[in-house]
Amino acid sequence: MSRYIVTGTNRGIGLEFVKQLLAQGHDVLATARDPEAVPALRELQHTHKQLTLLPLDLSDESSIASFAREASAQPIDVLINNAGVYGPRNASLGVLRTDDWAEVMLIDLIAPIILTQALLPALRQGKVKRIAFLSSMMGSIADNSSGGAYIYRSAKAGLNQAVKSLAVDLSKEDFIVLPLHPGWVQTDMGGPNAQIDTKTSVTGLLQRIQNSTAGDSGKFLNYDGKTIAW
Ligand SMILES: NC(=O)c1ccc[n+]([C@@H]2O[C@H](COP(=O)([O-])OP(=O)(O)OC[C@H]3O[C@@H](n4cnc5c(N)ncnc54)[C@H](OP(=O)(O)O)[C@@H]3O)[C@@H](O)[C@H]2O)c1
Repeated sequence: MSRYIVTGTNRGIGLEFVKQLLAQGHDVLATARDPEAVPALRELQHTHKQLTLLPLDLSDESSIASFAREASAQPIDVLINNAGVYGPRNASLGVLRTDDWAEVMLIDLIAPIILTQALLPALRQGKVKRIAFLSSMMGSIADNSSGGAYIYRSAKAGLNQAVKSLAVDLSKEDFIVLPLHPGWVQTDMGGPNAQIDTKTSVTGLLQRIQNSTAGDSGKFLNYDGKTIAW
């Protein structure tokens, strides 16, 4: 059994990661901005002693630093950087605002890398050495034929580039680093008309995270295992 950290677990894909990892018998450190205020997480903690909850706000550097200190008390096997924001739904030319854009860049691109950097010493002590990032097909430049969505698209495209560097830099230490597209998923972000439910998405994502080999590291993968063009 391994020790996993998952960010953004109070709802959506993050909460489903926690459920499936606990069902597999792993130790899970689940983060949310205020985890004690989330009934679903508290209920899971009653039934699963191997679940630990800690607060983490990715928009706050001091929150990242204090979380990393506590989380690093034991080795970490797998880090799943799941938390993310879409930003304003209407991010088209003419209405773009610097503040909106900067906030999404911070949460979706900068903070996951800074968090990973802070957790690296404990990840180096882990047995499994895997780091996953929830990216998005909307970050694919090759797939962008419809334009718009400047803010979310650019944040996830930037994340892909940073994650590629991380995969290259950590390859000599046998880390597997994966930018993953979860599919279009029925969550608050994906909306009710999305194509798949969180169970289907996370089942596929966990197969990628747990079964990928060194040759997959740094590839942009869909939840079903298909490679996505950058
Ligand atoms: N759903 C899709 O179709 C889809 C498609 C492609 C990629 N993705 C990616 O998949 C990941 C999960 O998406 P989802 O659909 O589950 O979204 P969601 O339902 O909107 O959940 C987003 C999660 O991120 C957390 N979060 C947001 N800002 C945060 C911050 N500053 N600090 C800490 N946590 C923060 C949220 O916590 P709060 O409740 O506290 O805000 C929530 O737990 C995201 O990275 C998203 O970009 C989703």
